[in-house]
Formats: sequence, structure tokens, C-alpha cells
Amino acid sequence: MKLFLLLPFICCYSIADAQCRSGVSSGTFNVLHYGARANGFSDDSKVFMAAWKAACAASGNVKLHIPRGKYLVGPVKFDGPCRNVHSITVYMQGYLKASTDLSKYVEGDDWIQFGHVDKLTLTGGGTFDGQGAVSWPFNKCPRKKNCRVLPTSIKFLATADTVVRRVKSLNSKFFHVAVVGCKRFHGSNIRIHAPSNSPNTDGIHIERSSDVTICNSVIATGDDCISIGQGNVHVRISRITCGPGHGISVGSLGRYRDEGDVRGLVVRDSTISGTTNGIRIKTWQNSPGSSSATNMTFKNISMKGVANPIIIDQMYCPYVLCPSQAPSRVKISDIFFRDIRGTSATPVAVTLKCSRGAPCRNVNLHNVHLRYTGGAAATAECWNVKARYSGIQMPAPCH
Ligand SMILES: *[C@@H]1O[C@H](CO)[C@@H](O)[C@H](O)[C@H]1NC(C)=O
Ligand SMILES: *[C@@H]1O[C@H](CO)[C@@H](O)[C@H](O)[C@H]1NC(C)=O
Repeated sequence: MKLFLLLPFICCYSIADAQCRSGVSSGTFNVLHYGARANGFSDDSKVFMAAWKAACAASGNVKLHIPRGKYLVGPVKFDGPCRNVHSITVYMQGYLKASTDLSKYVEGDDWIQFGHVDKLTLTGGGTFDGQGAVSWPFNKCPRKKNCRVLPTSIKFLATADTVVRRVKSLNSKFFHVAVVGCKRFHGSNIRIHAPSNSPNTDGIHIERSSDVTICNSVIATGDDCISIGQGNVHVRISRITCGPGHGISVGSLGRYRDEGDVRGLVVRDSTISGTTNGIRIKTWQNSPGSSSATNMTFKNISMKGVANPIIIDQMYCPYVLCPSQAPSRVKISDIFFRDIRGTSATPVAVTLKCSRGAPCRNVNLHNVHLRYTGGAAATAECWNVKARYSGIQMPAPCH
């Protein structure tokens, strides 16, 4: 009897409460209902943006649905703020193909941008195909300092509380994913693929962001699997399978004058195979400003045939003509390499090339077991650093 009386009350209360929180127009916005042609050759960009605009103007928990099918899209901006939205899910099951016509991208445009939107979830198992092969020959950035930067495939700009789960990125023109100026970004089950010779196709680039986690992802590409740029605080990376590519990198730091510090990085439980670098910290020599890179732990990482498994390089200068040989002014400190094992494809398995202007401080290696695949013993090289060693050390520490 008591229960009978109580139930309707609880029901009504919770429905009213839910309506209160979610307003009137929670719902799903399907791009097909907005006229997407989904034939893989007619441009659906305008339709995508119209559907996003409607979803963003709604209230409560909303969903933008991109059903299975092929969609050709040029640059698309999914911008907020979405003032009355509580959360927004982009449920992407489709296969998105980027326009290959570079004239559609204004200088600085990315392909798909999510900007200034909070509580966004991107999921659904869909694919972002940047169709980069056509534009890679036009990318002069690996050789020229002032180059036109091609569009990144998926960019998150100034978002908060973002979840990216179960998506795939293929053949980006430039970076696959960029996380810039974001707070609380969580990426998992992301699959990234591009050929090993594709230029600047970093898998996930993180910059000026805080509280970022990336886990359980497989990245094979032509540049860094994950690159941690300037101004990042609290980044955790785990269970990554990386290779081919250039490994997991901090940097490059110190290229521009007003860069932010990088503080609090953990990279762990990952496998890196057939890459040019394993775990790397690189800073430009001749840096115009000073900054610091501190509190970084690299732990439980397995290397297979990696050319430079552990490398700090503060003499980074990718162009033939560097204006001067001035030392890097990025201060590196509190760095921990723990339980790093596997094989090196070159004799020098550990390189600690610190700046003579700002020697590295408190660099620790614990249980490093790296074998050179060429047969001879692996070696270590150090400049401007007195590292601390404990546990197994293979190669032998440098003096
Ligand atoms: C170092 O970074 C880790 C990971 O972000 C963080 O949990 C820890 O509190 C930091 N330690 C210090 C001393 O700042
Ligand atoms: C080390 O990383 C592997 C994944 O590469 C994981 O399976 C294993 O549990 C980790 N070991 C420890 C002690 O955390």
C-alpha cells in the first residue's frame, strides 16, 4: 500500500526533473533529414553545418547523427558555444571523405573543426578519410620554415569535457587529430593510419591543453604518433600501439617566443615498433624565448626495432640553414624513464643531448634494457646532463 502510493510520486517527480534539466527540444538531428546526399561525390558540407546549427541551438542532451554512407565534405566548422545544450553527441557511423580541392580551404582552415563547445562526445565507429595523398606533394613544411600548413583532419579548439571514442582517421593531409586549448579531453579506441612516408601526418597533436588522456589506440603514420606541444599540463597517455611513425614526442618546443611550459606527462604501457624515435623530447636550438618541460614519466614501454628508443634532443634544427648555433633555452627537469625494454635499430639506443645553455636536471633511468638488433652492444650518448641510474642498465650509462 505504501509502495503503491509512493510510486506515482517518484515517477512524476523524476519526469518533471528530467524535463526541467533537458528542456523541450532534446533530440536527434540526422544529416539525412537535412538533405545530405551521402553519395560520396556531392558536397555535403552545408548540410552538415545546418544540422549542427539546429542541434547546437536546441537544449538538453542532443545528438547529431551521421548514419552509414559516404559523404564528401570540404572544410566544416562545428562551432559553439551551444548555450542551452547540456551535452552533445556526434554519432558518426559514416565514411567522411575530405575534398581534395585545396582552394576550398582558406589558409589556416582545418577539415573538421569542433570549436568552443563543451560536453561533446564524438563516437560511432565512423571514418575520417583526409584523402591526403593528393596534397602531400604540395607540403613543403619538412624542408621550408615559412610554408603553407595544410589542413588538419579533426581539430578540437577550446573545448571542455570532450570524449572521443571509437573513431578512425585515414590519410590526413597534415595532422590527423589536433587538440588545442582544450580542458579535460579523453580519447580512446582511436585508430589512425597513413603511410610511413606521408609528411607531417602526426597522429594526435596536443597543445595548450590540460587534463588530457589518450588510451587504447593504434597509430601508424608518417610523423609522430602523438606529439605533445607547448603549454600542456597533465597529459596521460597509455596503451598505445605506435608504428610506423616518429614515435611519441614532446615538442618541438622553443620555436616561438611566448611558449607555455609543459608540466606533468605520463606515457605508459605502450608498444612502439619500427619508428625513427621511441620516446623523445625535442627542443629547438636558438630558441627565441625560454620555457620549461618538467615532471615527465615514461614507463613500461616496449620497443621493437626503433632507431632512437630514448632520445632527448635539444639541438633540433630541421632546416639546412639555421640562423645561429645558440643553445636551446628550454629547461628540462624531473624526467623519469622506467622499465623501457626491447630493441634498437641503431647502435645508439639512449641519447641525452641536452642544451649547453640550460643543462637537463634530474633525469632518471631505471631498468632500461635495450638491445641493438645489429649484434654489437648498444651504447648511450650524453651531453650536458648527469643522469641518475638504477636497476638494469643496458646500454651502460654514459659518463
Ligand atoms: C607530475 O605529473 C603527474 C601527472 O600529470 C601528476 O599526477 C603529479 O601530481 C605531478 N607531480 C608534481 C610534483 O607536480
Ligand atoms: C605494461 O604494459 C603492457 C601493455 O603494453 C600491459 O599489458 C602490462 O600490464 C603493463 N605492465 C605493468 C606492470 O603495468
